[in-house]
Amino acid sequence: MAHRGARCHRSLISSQRSSESGQLLTGLPGTLGRMTPRAAPNSAPTIEAHGLTKHYGSERKGMVHALAGLDLVAPAGKVTAILGPNGAGKTTFVKAVATLLRPDAGSLTVAGIDAIAHPEQVRRVIGLAGQNAAVEPALTGRENLVMVARLFGHTAPAAKAAAAAVLAEIHLEDDADRPVKGYSGGMRRRLDLGASLVGSPRILLLDEPTTGLDPRTRIELWESIRSLVAGGTDVMLTTQYLEEADQLADHIVIIDHGRAIATGTPTELKSQAGRDVVEVRVQHGHDLATVAEMLAPLGTETPHLDEPARRVAVPVAEGTASLAVAVRLISERGIELDDIGLRRPTLDEVFLALTGTGAPE
Ligand SMILES: Nc1ncnc2c1ncn2[C@@H]1O[C@H](COP(=O)(O)OP(=O)(O)OP(=O)(O)O)[C@@H](O)[C@H]1O
Ligand SMILES: [Mg+2]
Repeated sequence: MAHRGARCHRSLISSQRSSESGQLLTGLPGTLGRMTPRAAPNSAPTIEAHGLTKHYGSERKGMVHALAGLDLVAPAGKVTAILGPNGAGKTTFVKAVATLLRPDAGSLTVAGIDAIAHPEQVRRVIGLAGQNAAVEPALTGRENLVMVARLFGHTAPAAKAAAAAVLAEIHLEDDADRPVKGYSGGMRRRLDLGASLVGSPRILLLDEPTTGLDPRTRIELWESIRSLVAGGTDVMLTTQYLEEADQLADHIVIIDHGRAIATGTPTELKSQAGRDVVEVRVQHGHDLATVAEMLAPLGTETPHLDEPARRVAVPVAEGTASLAVAVRLISERGIELDDIGLRRPTLDEVFLALTGTGAPE
């Protein structure tokens, strides 16, 4: 994959398929074959948005403020994950960065380029795998990738070589010559990711890359993403899976109603928003409600019950002191436990505390 040229094939493909994406800024690749150096760590942010707004609809028919003054910085050399409940504005933001729609107001730079003034320049540095896999079912996996490489202006032999390199990267060599219509959902997602890699983009945008994948395929895709990052590609992804953000991202932005509401590393977010959690697993399910009642006065929120797991969890203000009280109260009542302990909040709990909604699964 020596070629690093115009990177708008996803714009082309997505623009044919996403009639919902508002004003489309389509165009053919600009300067083909231009060399674009990868961003050095600590250089200017990969993506920087300030006061970004985008609405759909009209005053008369009802207006949705999908982005309502979004401030977001994706640092260079890192994986940035955007988390948010359904309808938070994640896809709208990804489309703005991919120059598939034009924001109403605010500023947006991508790799230092003003994305609103110069969308065609931005398309040369990005690759996009959209929320819905955009591959051609009648063609084989290899033919799909060759087609994309040709759109980038590769010669036929160079396109063949680029497709082969990407197929190896996404572990799809064995199925490369079967028509995509016979692929599983996970294989299609992998091919879609592969298509976004054909042009060796400096910045890769992934909108829910692993939604609907089985756990093994998800882990394989994480590995592919990690090795891309090690090779110098900056990645911004949205995800429905908090564990994914926890595993992959160095930088997380939680958005809700079109605004950023929290930012930090997974660890920072957990300590920012969360209190320690006392978690108890009872031996007998019928004790669960009693334990929850006993723990309630120690908690800063109502205890959370997980009946199938016979578990109750409650965030506490006093950490180990609260744990000691919980142990005393429970043993005084002679309730038998499998386990009791103090743990840091999970990202799910942070998300719940910040957005007031459960994990977006
Ligand atoms: N083309 C459109 N026309 C009208 N409203 C839209 C359009 N696209 C998005 N919206 C609305 O804008 C808001 C943000 O949508 P967006 O797709 O960006 O959310 P999201 O965070 O990606 O959600 P999800 O997790 O469900 O993918 C939602 O209220 C949505 O209904
Ligand atoms: Mg979305």
